[in-house]
Amino acid sequence: MDQARIGVIGAGWWATQHHMPSLVGYDRAELTGIADVEAEKAKRAGEFYEVKDRFEDHRELLASGIDGVVIAVQHAYHYQVAKDALDAGVHVLVEKPMTLKASEAWDLVERADRLGLHLMVGYTYQFTKHAEAARKIVQSGRIGELQFVSGIFTSMVESYLRGKPQEYASEFNFPITGPSEDTYSDPTVAGGGQGVLQVTHPMGMVMRVTGLKATQVFAFMESFDLDVDLVDTFSYRLENGAVGTMSSTGGVRPGQPSDQRIIYFGTKGQVRQDMINGRLDAHFHDGTTEEFTDLTKDELYPAHATSRALVDLILGDGDNRAPGEQGARVVEFLEAGYRSAETGAPVTVAKLH
Ligand SMILES: NC(=O)c1ccc[n+]([C@@H]2O[C@H](COP(=O)([O-])OP(=O)(O)OC[C@H]3O[C@@H](n4cnc5c(N)ncnc54)[C@H](O)[C@@H]3O)[C@@H](O)[C@H]2O)c1
Repeated sequence: MDQARIGVIGAGWWATQHHMPSLVGYDRAELTGIADVEAEKAKRAGEFYEVKDRFEDHRELLASGIDGVVIAVQHAYHYQVAKDALDAGVHVLVEKPMTLKASEAWDLVERADRLGLHLMVGYTYQFTKHAEAARKIVQSGRIGELQFVSGIFTSMVESYLRGKPQEYASEFNFPITGPSEDTYSDPTVAGGGQGVLQVTHPMGMVMRVTGLKATQVFAFMESFDLDVDLVDTFSYRLENGAVGTMSSTGGVRPGQPSDQRIIYFGTKGQVRQDMINGRLDAHFHDGTTEEFTDLTKDELYPAHATSRALVDLILGDGDNRAPGEQGARVVEFLEAGYRSAETGAPVTVAKLH
């Protein structure tokens, strides 16, 4: 097989702006079908990208002879659609957050393992050179035993969380469609706000770079006048005893800078990862430093990379840089965080299972 047959489920903003053009422009893939419960959206995307097979029911797409599927539906539906895909014997790239509940995420991991299928999560930042470089330094032990991880992640998503996606039309372009109004603002569809939508990215990075899972989480969250959380702060402990923080707001306004940084601090040095500006450097206690070349504008957020990586995996190439197991660790971190914010007490992650 030199070309993988791929379907896309969910013909909304992210899939139509990134996954579909990525697949159509990749000679190792054939985008064979598109499914959306809103037939009009599948039709518009199908006409734009010249894909004839369009379905309202994702199960029909899954039965149409595809090798892999990209799932870009609202958060509350990730689990069911991904489960159906795996049960149909189809390799899966599911967008972040992988699922809303840890039990669902681990169920998908177990299913994919049992059925011998690839399971990837749409963690775009993990496809940068810097993510791999940071991972190598931290996991090779060059900064010694990890003691502390500090993170900040600010982003421009407040209008999404308020159910007014059109306010970002000029920022994001929306070549075919923006998100539905309820996608990020209705707790029953989104499963939460800044935490599930955004904190999932940097915590995905922390899990990927350190290879560790969280054992305990304490969080404060504020929704103000929104129906979902806008501002979140997390304190957490990792399985090796290191402690960490992650603070986040979705309230950045157009034209303002965002901060998306993580510092990994160990007994022999520190690694500083500035994701949004594409900078990475390491400083060791023996006085040496290592500077990495800044990422180019095109390398900063390689949104086309995730779907192509699924294709490569299916064709037997490359590593899974955003495996289901790591996605599940983030889901359990976030579930613990939401529970902690609700109860005012730290939550032990293992007790969620
Ligand atoms: N990796 C990233 O950087 C990134 C960026 C943006 C969005 N996303 C993720 O992509 C996903 C989609 O977000 P969006 O902004 O495109 O949302 P959206 O509202 O634009 O699109 C979701 C689409 O899924 C469809 N849908 C829902 N259930 C379905 C089902 N069972 N079968 C077929 N279609 C179904 C809806 O009708 C809608 O068209 C979310 O998980 C989001 O978090 C990831």
